[in-house]
Amino acid sequence: MATTPAGLLAMSRKVVPAVLPGDLMARLAGTLRLVRPDPVEDFDDPAVLAGVEVLVTGWLCPPLTPAVLDAAPRLRAVVHAAGSVKGHVGPEVFARGIAVSSAADANAAPVVDFTVAVITLAGKRAFRLAREAADFGGGLPPFGTRPGNDGRVIGVVGASRIGRGVIARLVAAGHRVLVADPYLDPPAAAALGAGLADLDELCRRCDVLTLHAPALPETHHLLDERRLALLPHGAIVVNTARGTLVDTDALACACAAGRIDACLDVTEPEPLPAGHPLLALPNVWITPHLAGAQGSEVRRLGEYAVAEVERFVAGEPLHGAVHAAQLPLLA
Ligand SMILES: NC(=O)c1ccc[n+]([C@@H]2O[C@H](COP(=O)([O-])OP(=O)(O)OC[C@H]3O[C@@H](n4cnc5c(N)ncnc54)[C@H](O)[C@@H]3O)[C@@H](O)[C@H]2O)c1
Repeated sequence: MATTPAGLLAMSRKVVPAVLPGDLMARLAGTLRLVRPDPVEDFDDPAVLAGVEVLVTGWLCPPLTPAVLDAAPRLRAVVHAAGSVKGHVGPEVFARGIAVSSAADANAAPVVDFTVAVITLAGKRAFRLAREAADFGGGLPPFGTRPGNDGRVIGVVGASRIGRGVIARLVAAGHRVLVADPYLDPPAAAALGAGLADLDELCRRCDVLTLHAPALPETHHLLDERRLALLPHGAIVVNTARGTLVDTDALACACAAGRIDACLDVTEPEPLPAGHPLLALPNVWITPHLAGAQGSEVRRLGEYAVAEVERFVAGEPLHGAVHAAQLPLLA
């Protein structure tokens, strides 16, 4: 672009200090001519969009409806300083030739870190043993019955960006990994260092099952009562993806029976209501959807988005480009 393009921020004002602190905002203001210094939280005033060429979006950006797009005839790029673009970007954005980028890669990194840590700790039954120690002053189980991580088969559901990151870390640590993903072929699985399995086979063969598929109609309750019953006794279910992937009632029954343990960063419903059976079980460990970028990690999203804007303005390829054909399968 020959001249400095006009830009606008569209996101919750609450998140701006964390996503785009002063130095990042200064970089952005050096790359775009911001038509307003503050972000908009709605598109009620279409006049503000008239000259906008680059929209930097973030959490709670309202949908880019055809009417909003009509009000922004010069819009060339939507750069999202958060993960999924599905809340505000639909096919009509791509149909107008507008480039779309997401910072999902930056949001994936902390989820990968968290998941690998949880798999490691859960494999040692650390959560259960910590709870028992707090409740009853218990120590280690007898020698010979103590849990360890070596030799376990870890089943990864979804070779998504997070799933691939988790596989890479597990393979590098020497774990045996199976992956189930209908969109992955055997050579691609082999390149990841994992064995490809269908989901039923993966359930039968894994000691730890970790979910990384997006919430889509076809992934709703993919871990249902029948598949939970395929898991070996003592298996661990880790869910850092979305609660809708698991039949919560069936999971609660399997955990209450002591057949499997679960570590859940996401649930259905979310949060679970007070008194829900899963909350009281000693073999279930629940966190409040914190695996993605939080606190000091949120800056990564802004850094990624600002670098994308700089690339776009320089005419360079976007690193987080999202294409229309990918949208239906993405988180
Ligand atoms: N806990 C958190 O804070 C947090 C943060 C970010 C993302 N997430 C969740 O993590 C999951 C992965 O996110 P992502 O950005 O890596 O996803 P992504 O957008 O990269 O996932 C797309 C991929 O998922 C795979 N997939 C699609 N349908 C599938 C199916 N039926 N079975 C298995 N695999 C299938 C395909 O390989 C597809 O390319 C999502 O559920 C997302 O919502 C959670």
